[in-house]
Amino acid sequence: MENMSFILYGGTGDLAKRKIYPALFNLYIDHKMPESFSIIAMGRKEQSHADFQQIVANSLQTFSRRKVNDPAAVNGFLESIRYCSLNVNHPEDYHKLRGMVESREKELNISGNRIFYLSVAPEFFETIASNLKDSGLTATTGWKRLIIEKPFGRDLESARHLNRELSKVFDEEEIYRIDHYLGKPMVQNLEILESSNPILKALWSNHHIANVQITASETVGVEERAGYYDNSGAIRDMVQNHMLQLLMMISMRLPRKSDATEVRMKKRNVMESLRPLDKETIASNVIRGQYTEGEIQGKPVPGYTVEPGVPANSKNDTFIALRLWIDNYFWSDVPFYIRTGKRMKEKSTRIVIEFKEPLKGQTTTNDPNLLVIEINPNEGIFIQLNKKDPMNNEKLEPMRVNCFSSGEELPEAYENLIFDAIRGDSTFFAHWDEVELSWEYVQPILDAFEQDSIPLSYYPAGSNGPEASDKLVQADGFKWWLDK
Ligand code: BG6
Repeated sequence: MENMSFILYGGTGDLAKRKIYPALFNLYIDHKMPESFSIIAMGRKEQSHADFQQIVANSLQTFSRRKVNDPAAVNGFLESIRYCSLNVNHPEDYHKLRGMVESREKELNISGNRIFYLSVAPEFFETIASNLKDSGLTATTGWKRLIIEKPFGRDLESARHLNRELSKVFDEEEIYRIDHYLGKPMVQNLEILESSNPILKALWSNHHIANVQITASETVGVEERAGYYDNSGAIRDMVQNHMLQLLMMISMRLPRKSDATEVRMKKRNVMESLRPLDKETIASNVIRGQYTEGEIQGKPVPGYTVEPGVPANSKNDTFIALRLWIDNYFWSDVPFYIRTGKRMKEKSTRIVIEFKEPLKGQTTTNDPNLLVIEINPNEGIFIQLNKKDPMNNEKLEPMRVNCFSSGEELPEAYENLIFDAIRGDSTFFAHWDEVELSWEYVQPILDAFEQDSIPLSYYPAGSNGPEASDKLVQADGFKWWLDK
């Protein structure tokens, strides 16, 4: 692996402490970092390298996936870190940064390969990119890459604008847009699951599949993020990115080889085949929900509009259910349902594939066959089959063939993604085409919410979402599977 400088904006932020340093550290102890590397973290505050290294050490203690009990490993890792105070709006600070990057490169014999990671609020993306260019930091002798966190724009137009600005400094192949769902081990497994299992491959189309249900439910509420969340809602926070990425991953045709170009092409094909929503169809395919007070795991919790920082008259969506159609040869007539929400009954991300029963109504089968892919917090797969009820031979009962991960700790999404970015593999990052097509799909929904033309359905905290979401699926003769 090639040596590199890892230059982190937002180095004192929450994401850096919770995810980025622990990910880099776990890669380091797994010998998945280059032999020679330099980490330079930035924040506004003035502080010494040593004080900052102590902050990183604390973050490892609290958030590292594996225990931090080898002082030599910790010190070896911390030794690679330097701190640079920087105001993103001050061009002179970028020159100071450049000096530090270059002197570390010299010291460690790094040949100018640079990753710029923007773990900062999106309003700074453009300013940072143009200052990087003006300061000469991007005019390097090695390769350069940009890692960028969501949100990528807040609607179609702003996303296009941002992309134009970033493209002035980085080529598309150099931009790694993180969607942390694409880093989850089970999501990375989806394509292999189909391609390496002939029984699934044979069944993977509208001939055998009745519907597909993608759920990402959370028990947490808006937490301390009202300022951001009340202006984003579940549609921008989850649907435009994570949920549509899961949809692409589960429905794309198998790429001939699993590389970034092929996978991206197949994913783009899915988005291009999505039936667009328009004024006539939108209200019957989109459910917008908001939680009211209720109970989560036996504890009373407040409704959304009384959460700190949320306006009392907010109509923000904390829940979305959607029916989508992929109008291509393989998926026509198979409804895909997406559902995501805060303050729901359980924390679960999963995909349920319901198979058709060709003799529906003519047999005594109780339940259809299901293939269930559990993504988070459990990772695993089960298939639901039917068997005789041993106590009553007239009846059938469902049985589940399970395969759950062995309990051995899997790498975190951020570990997988940062490792890929260091290696230059962008297969599991969101390409601009996907981002743009996702915004195109979502834009009519944003407009309808803006005009308040889709009713807001309420659901008590701790439930499976509003009744309207059950009705959406029931209208096609189905139900949401596995709701507790
Ligand atoms: C983030 C959203 O992208 O994903 C959060 O901004 C959400 O609102 C989170 O809670 C969910 O991620 P995960 O990995 O816990 O399912």
